[in-house]
Amino acid sequence: MKNTVVIGAQFGDEGKAKITDILAGEADFITRFQGGSNAGHTVVANGKKYAFHLIPSGILYENKVCMIGAGCVIKPDDLKNEIENIISQGIECAHFEKCLKISPLAHITMKYHTDIDGYSENNLKENKIGTTKKGIGPTYTDKYNRCGIRVEDLFNQETLSKKLDVILPKKNKELEFVYNLKPYSKEEILKECEEYRKILAPYVDFNWENNLLNTQKNKTILFEGAQGVMLDIDYGTYPYVTSSSPTAGGAAIGASMGIKSIERAVGVFKAYMTRVGEGAFITELTDEEGEKLRSIGGEFGVTTGRARRCGWFDAISAKYAVLVGGLTEIALTKLDVLDTFEEIKIATAYKNKLTGEIIKNYPTNVYTHQNYEPVYETHKGWMEDITGCKNYNDLPQNAKLYLKRLEELLGIKISIISVGPDREQTIFL
Ligand code: GDP
Ligand code: IMO
Ligand code: MG
Repeated sequence: MKNTVVIGAQFGDEGKAKITDILAGEADFITRFQGGSNAGHTVVANGKKYAFHLIPSGILYENKVCMIGAGCVIKPDDLKNEIENIISQGIECAHFEKCLKISPLAHITMKYHTDIDGYSENNLKENKIGTTKKGIGPTYTDKYNRCGIRVEDLFNQETLSKKLDVILPKKNKELEFVYNLKPYSKEEILKECEEYRKILAPYVDFNWENNLLNTQKNKTILFEGAQGVMLDIDYGTYPYVTSSSPTAGGAAIGASMGIKSIERAVGVFKAYMTRVGEGAFITELTDEEGEKLRSIGGEFGVTTGRARRCGWFDAISAKYAVLVGGLTEIALTKLDVLDTFEEIKIATAYKNKLTGEIIKNYPTNVYTHQNYEPVYETHKGWMEDITGCKNYNDLPQNAKLYLKRLEELLGIKISIISVGPDREQTIFL
C-alpha cells in the first residue's frame, strides 16, 4: 500500500475509523495528526465494538506502531480511561506499552482548558458552538498563543516550573476576571502535571526523530484524521468548527513528516450526511426522513451521546471538500443505511431563497447559509439488503447508478464502499 492519509470529508463521524482500521492491516505505522479526545472513532472487529478517542485505530493489530503526533492535544486522564476501557475488552496492557507512542511535542489539555470550554459553551447560549467540552479550543488557543504546556514539559521539572511562572499568573487573571472561574495555585498545577507525567511516561517517544526517519525509509505509513473537512479551522463552517486542520495538508504538519511521505489521500464520505453540534447544514432533514436516517444509521455521538442531525448528501460542500481537503479518492460508507429508501436525494446546487439565484460553488460565509435551500436531484432507491454484498457486481443497479453519479459530481473515484460496520462488509474497487 502507498503511504495513505484517511480524513473525514463532511462534518465528522463519516466512519473514518472503520476505513483506517482496515487499511491499518497493510500499514506498519499509524499516526493521528490532529485533534484530541473530541473524536469518537468506532471499530467493529473480531465480533467486538471498540470506541477510540485519541488512540489510533490501528492499535487492534499486533506489531504496528501507533503514534499520537505533535499536532494532537492530549487530555491524559481521558487517555488513561480510553486505554483502560480497551484493556477491559481483552487487549493486554503490555501491548500498549509496546505499540503506543506519543510525540513529546503534543500539547496537554489542562483542567483549566476544560473549565473554560464548559463555561464558554454554557454562556454563549444560542450562539454556542456545541463543542464536545473536551477543552480542545482553549488548548489550541494556548498553543498558538505560545503559552501551552507540551508533553515534554512534564518531564523537565525545572523548565515546567519556569514556564508556569509565566503562564499561570496570566491564566489565573483570565480564569477569574474573564470567566469568573476558580484560579489554580502553582502547587495544584504541579500536582496535576505530576499525575499526567505518570500516565504518559510509558508511551512518550523521546527518540522520535530517529524513529520517524527509519519509518519514512522502510515502512508503510497510515495517517488517521479526526473530525472532517467541514469542521476544519480554515475551510469549515467557521466559527462552527473545531480548532485544528483535519485536511490531508494537516497530516503533513501534525505527523512531523512533511509532504513527501503522503502519496494518497482518501476522503471518507457517508452516503448521506450528519452533523453534531451547532452550525449550518443546508441539506438537513428535520422531518421523518431525517429521523429514519438517524434510527437506521444509529446516528448518536460516540463521545457525547448527542443525537446527530441528519440530511441528504450535499455534492456542493463535498466537491469543495475534495478541493480544499486535497483528496485523491473516496471511501463511501453507510451505503446500506439507504437500503429502505424508495427515493434518495443529492443536492447538486443551492438556490438563494431571496433572489432565486442558483449557485454551484460552496459559499464560505456560513452566515449566508440561511438564505440557501438545496436543489435536489432524485434517484430511485434499490430497496434491497446490500449488507452481504462482497463485490461491486453484487450491488443492485440503482446503487451502482447512485455511486456513479457521486463520482461524476465529485470528479474523483470511489475506491472503497462500506456496506456495514464490520471489517468484512467492505468492497474494494
Ligand atoms: P468516525 O468518527 O468517522 O470514525 O465515525 P464514528 O465511529 O463516529 O461513526 C460511524 C458509525 O458508523 C460507527 O458506529 C460505525 O461502526 C458505523 N459504520 C461505519 N461504516 C458503516 C457502514 O458502512 N454501515 C453501517 N451501517 N455502519 C457503519
Ligand atoms: P470524529 O473524529 C463529529 C464537533 C463538535 C462541535 C465542533 C467543535 O469522531 O469525526 P470541539 O469539541 O472540537 O471544539 O467541537 O466540532 N466535533 C465533532 N463532530 N465528529 C467529531 O470527531 C467531532 N469532533 C468535534 O460537535 O460542533
Ligand atoms: Mg466519530
